[in-house]
Amino acid sequence: MWKKWLSKMSTTKQDIYNNIDVSRLPQHIAIIMDGNGRWAQRRGLPRALGHRSGAETLREIVKTASELGIKVLTTYAFSTENWRRPADEVDLLMNLLSDYLDNEITELHNNNVQIRFIGHIDGLAVALQKKIEKAQTQTAHNTGLIFNLAVNYGGRAELTRAVKIISEKVKGRELNTEDIDESTIEAHLYTFDLPSPDLLIRPSGDFRISNFLLWQMAYTEFWFTDINWPDFKPAHFVQAIRDYQQRERRFGGIKNTKKR
Ligand code: IPE
Ligand code: IPE
Ligand code: MG
Repeated sequence: MWKKWLSKMSTTKQDIYNNIDVSRLPQHIAIIMDGNGRWAQRRGLPRALGHRSGAETLREIVKTASELGIKVLTTYAFSTENWRRPADEVDLLMNLLSDYLDNEITELHNNNVQIRFIGHIDGLAVALQKKIEKAQTQTAHNTGLIFNLAVNYGGRAELTRAVKIISEKVKGRELNTEDIDESTIEAHLYTFDLPSPDLLIRPSGDFRISNFLLWQMAYTEFWFTDINWPDFKPAHFVQAIRDYQQRERRFGGIKNTKKR
């Protein structure tokens, strides 16, 4: 399928793509979709237009990830801290999410994408919750890209939730304290059945993780760019993968050296 995508690319993009080793793609890519506000501000436009344009980027990047054969893509759409924004901006973001589902679900489904949501979904408006539920059910059996949308998500909230569930199990004698290990914590995260992200992409020039996937990113490779999310193109995504493939991951071990 990626061949079809290749044929549609310009020579430059094709050159970049040629440098990717398709047999060593990151399994899971996480993205903090940041910089919509700055993108709009620099053009003298209202922030709303930045968010609208950001939704278009999301559409393109999901398509690219799916065509490349990436297994999991997790994108950060709304954090537990984003409620601190003015009510009209929060409303706009929620409406955009709702529109995104209305407009994209058929295409996602046709492309064999399985959409999932991570975060405190119960804290969203009931109508949106229903839409989310419907989208998840509709695509639940798809076997292509697993596309996680993090909405009302916070890494600290996710860990707090895990601690609460585990405590209840200990209280109910379903679990012994001495049996709790790292796999117990992992089994109680939203991402319990997914590999940890191999690569995190954060556009827009800030160097922080803003409460995203705190546990899961223990050994993730970070890739930052000044480009704001609405200007982020498939070529940047491919560039991040290429850079990732040139890194050496040691996971606390040491560089591969010849055995003595
Ligand atoms: C990302 O863009 C969208 C959300 C956080 C929901 P921002 O709105 O954070 O854009 P900046 O950081 O103000 O440029
Ligand atoms: C992170 O961006 C959250 C999302 C992209 C959804 P923010 O714009 O909220 O992060 P900070 O406030 O700059 O750290
Ligand atoms: Mg921001």
